[in-house]
Amino acid sequence: MPRPLSPTGPRLLLRPWREADRAPLAAINADPVAMRHFAAPMTRAESDAWMDRLQRHIEAHGWGFWCVERRDAPGCIGAVGLMHLAFAPPWDVDGGASVVEIGWRIAPGLQRQGLAEEAARLALAAGFGPIGLAEIVAFTRPANEPSWRLMQKLGMTRGTDFEHPRLPEGHPARPHILYRLTWADWRARQPG
Ligand SMILES: CC(C)(COP(=O)(O)OP(=O)(O)OC[C@H]1O[C@@H](n2cnc3c(N)ncnc32)[C@H](O)[C@@H]1OP(=O)(O)O)[C@@H](O)C(=O)NCCC(=O)NCCS
Repeated sequence: MPRPLSPTGPRLLLRPWREADRAPLAAINADPVAMRHFAAPMTRAESDAWMDRLQRHIEAHGWGFWCVERRDAPGCIGAVGLMHLAFAPPWDVDGGASVVEIGWRIAPGLQRQGLAEEAARLALAAGFGPIGLAEIVAFTRPANEPSWRLMQKLGMTRGTDFEHPRLPEGHPARPHILYRLTWADWRARQPG
């Protein structure tokens, strides 16, 4: 098992998942407001299965969608990180390289404090630094303005819209917008 990364920023620690994270993560995943852009809120069993999947990715690769924890107030407040795409990308990919997405979910009571942005910047630095990725993508539904505004704020560039292949044709949640960021574009935005 590769040694897991735990990116750390001024306020946040991104770390592997622990048993104690199940309840706070399930509370976020059950929240109808936090989950309004997903097909449905998650049941406790679905949330537990999702956490297990995230932890398996971290154990397999050393990185993934981490548990987000405040350094001054330990405990799970969200999930942010990088994952290998769980479906074949319906957009152009250079040379069949494996595609990695960045994603985020922050507890509703702690939003609009720049926490997702801090966590996302840590994840991008890990992805383009020690993990050595050439490109990171993000996608969401057009109605998820908080999410696509964050993609724009991180310097990502709009790619080709696509229909999410995991949803049935005609499903209202199927249309997605894609944002992409290359290592070179990320590097050009870094101070120094
Ligand atoms: C998207 C999400 C993670 C943002 O978390 P957050 O901690 O509130 O975001 P931040 O405070 O770091 O905001 C960073 C930027 O994101 C954008 N943003 C965040 N919330 C926004 C909102 N409600 N409306 C518009 N833009 C928003 C802004 O560009 C913001 O920068 P600004 O504050 O300078 O305007 C949060 O809304 C969330 O968990 N949503 C539910 C889960 C979800 O939909 N995840 C994405 C699935 S694709």
